[in-house]
Amino acid sequence: MKKIEAYVRPEKLQRVKEALDAIGVKSLSVYDVRGRGAQGGIKLAGRVGEYVVDFIDKLKLELFINCGTDIEAVITAIADAARSEPNGRPGDGKIFISDVQDAIRIRDLERGEAIC
Ligand SMILES: Nc1ncnc2c1ncn2[C@@H]1O[C@H](COP(=O)(O)OP(=O)(O)OP(=O)(O)O)[C@@H](O)[C@H]1O
Ligand SMILES: [Mg+2]
Repeated sequence: MKKIEAYVRPEKLQRVKEALDAIGVKSLSVYDVRGRGAQGGIKLAGRVGEYVVDFIDKLKLELFINCGTDIEAVITAIADAARSEPNGRPGDGKIFISDVQDAIRIRDLERGEAIC
């Protein structure tokens, strides 16, 4: 079982949800987050001159994916839907993958990746 954490632009959520739906991935959690990447904040030009925004609004999508699902297809679906046209832009976000040990359904204590 894998965990996918994807940081995406808030306005891409609808497209990402539809792309996941199309490959049969329904379950996910969505978090409002503020973040920054390796280059720190972004410089914006305002009426009073340049200013730096330290943290930028993003959404974090969290998905637990069982081994029966093609993880690469999930990654491609998220990335293609979250990428700005035509070739992507800085700030389009990142995807992180990790291994997950177990899962438990509270209702009946069934466990293992079949529940996710
Ligand atoms: N190492 C990290 N740890 C935690 N969150 C991160 C990390 N890297 C990125 N993020 C999250 O992802 C968001 C987008 O990251 P980032 O700015 O690195 O992506 P990008 O601008 O699309 O790519 P790049 O900056 O490499 O061109 C950040 O705002 C932050 O919320
Ligand atoms: Mg960046």
